[in-house]
Amino acid sequence: MRRHRTHEWSRRMVQESNLSASDLIWPLFVIDQPKSEPISSLPGVNRVGSNDLLKTVEQACRLKIPAIAIFPVTDNSLKTEDALEATNPDNLICRTVREIKKSFGNEIGLICDVALDPYSSHGQDGLMRNGVILNDETIAILCQQAIVQADAGCDIVAPSDMMDGRIGEIRDALDDQGHQSIQIMSYAAKYASSFYGPFRDAVGSAGNLGTGDKKTYQQSPSQTDEALHEVALDLLEGADSVMVKPGMPYLDILQRVKETFKVPTFVYQVSGEYAMLTAAAEKGWLDKRSTVMESLLAFKRAGADGILTYFAAEVGDWLKSQD
Ligand code: PBG
Repeated sequence: MRRHRTHEWSRRMVQESNLSASDLIWPLFVIDQPKSEPISSLPGVNRVGSNDLLKTVEQACRLKIPAIAIFPVTDNSLKTEDALEATNPDNLICRTVREIKKSFGNEIGLICDVALDPYSSHGQDGLMRNGVILNDETIAILCQQAIVQADAGCDIVAPSDMMDGRIGEIRDALDDQGHQSIQIMSYAAKYASSFYGPFRDAVGSAGNLGTGDKKTYQQSPSQTDEALHEVALDLLEGADSVMVKPGMPYLDILQRVKETFKVPTFVYQVSGEYAMLTAAAEKGWLDKRSTVMESLLAFKRAGADGILTYFAAEVGDWLKSQD
């Protein structure tokens, strides 16, 4: 077994999985102010202000990162019970999409989350009445949200809310409005995970959510067959691609989804995974570059066609320096 391992060229020659810039999707937080600001639980990641927006997108283009996923940090004064800001055609995300598209056109893909958590005063992804998250009422708003994002010029809407039946309704709503070519990347197998903590700090929904959780709509970490059921439904309803989330603790799910459905399958290396790797590297306990690269290669090996990762730009630089 060791003959192939003897030399670097030989290890490369038999390599089954590869990572390239085309595998990376870069999640970006945007804030409605000129200056960018750091996020304490995500060292090295900023809430990007308007002064730095186009520079940041330019960096992604230069690195040949195919798409960015944009998340808005919404001012608390705009958050309400009914999360109506989500459907405002002039909200931060729509303005951001328009600005990027004006300068970059189709040079890079733009992905927008469809869910209410950046806009709801309770921090939930759906509408809430008497402590219950309402399914169908939420979907009606999600359809509106997807339409304003598509109108603004986004290329892919990514429903991350985990309501039942939303993919089919969003597809119909987009088609009705002439948005037949807008893709739907479904967060199909999304778990009620504690690894999302730093993301909720980043978009400022942690305080709104308080002691609440998302267990009545996101999947329980114990489930695996259920993930296949979720993916099957979303594909039947018209999803163009599906996502598994979080990443590293759910490699088994990723592998099963890819093997079963053989459709474009994405994985999200979520904020908590980024935070763990970064913290250990800061302490000098792990070597950052090699552990991050290993974590991403593991996603490719398990079957991912693309990876959402906060390391995208850094990894893009590393990949360039290898050429
Ligand atoms: C919100 C959303 C979340 C993430 C992406 N979209 C958080 C949540 O469901 O609470 C998490 C991403 C991350 O942790 O990096 N619908």
